Amino acid sequence: MQPVLELKNLNKAFGGLRVTNDVGFTVMPGDITAIIGPNGAGKTTLFNQITGHLVPDSGCVLFRGEDITGMAPQSIVAKGMGRAFQVTSIFPEETVLENVRMACLARRNEARRPFRNVSTFKQATDDAYAILESIGLAQYAERAAYELAHGDQKLLDIGIALGLQPTLLLLDEPTSGMSPDERQLTRDLIVRLWKEFNLTMVFIEHDMDTVFGIAQIVRVLHLGHLLAEGTPDEIRNNPEVITAYLGEEVQ
Ligand SMILES: Nc1ncnc2c1ncn2[C@@H]1O[C@H](COP(=O)(O)OP(=O)(O)OP(=O)(O)O)[C@@H](O)[C@H]1O
Ligand SMILES: [Mg+2]
Repeated sequence: MQPVLELKNLNKAFGGLRVTNDVGFTVMPGDITAIIGPNGAGKTTLFNQITGHLVPDSGCVLFRGEDITGMAPQSIVAKGMGRAFQVTSIFPEETVLENVRMACLARRNEARRPFRNVSTFKQATDDAYAILESIGLAQYAERAAYELAHGDQKLLDIGIALGLQPTLLLLDEPTSGMSPDERQLTRDLIVRLWKEFNLTMVFIEHDMDTVFGIAQIVRVLHLGHLLAEGTPDEIRNNPEVITAYLGEEVQ
């Protein structure tokens, strides 16, 4: 089976700071995996190199067998890679529906055409509503996005990513800033979306209930390098991981 994502010897430095240090791993179709590690470990920077927002200094990123290193983010999105951001990337003045509909149209390259095909627009609207139903935001469809609570804005960002019909979905701290109840709901939602949309998922998280509750494989970044990868049980019991990160997280 062909991997969905392969990272090979990725390196990235900012000035003298090596933020990604020879990172490599493989994600297989249908996997749901987590990346954990202390603040500043290089997790978001790694995502930025996968999605084309940053170009690695060396190494490469293969997506479904194709070398996409250095490609523009929109080209990578068009190939089927979606991402929700640590800081949400919603359009606050637009309605909740429009946020997702724009993504659905963008997938069809229709977002910027002044005279859109009516049936394409209707299809995008239907798709957007279906996504809003899936993420539990349909009742807010006509509200401006900025009116949503923080947790719902995080969900909307996931909805926008889904509108692009990704095969691989990257989530950067999907539960950050949420209450424990919201985190539980989001955890359940992520698993449901993973199954419903037949996704391969990689998520960055600090919330260990989410990480150990839903990830099949956990990878630990520490000072820019891959300290460990394994099943939740292997990672939970890895002495190096406990020393570098988990010790402080679980106290
Ligand atoms: N554009 C940039 N220019 C310079 N330094 C940067 C840049 N982006 C990130 N860094 C630095 O790289 C390091 C890794 O940052 P990154 O955001 O990848 O960490 P992270 O693991 O996602 O942390 P967190 O858990 O806090 O989100 C940090 O020291 C950060 O200050
Ligand atoms: Mg980050």
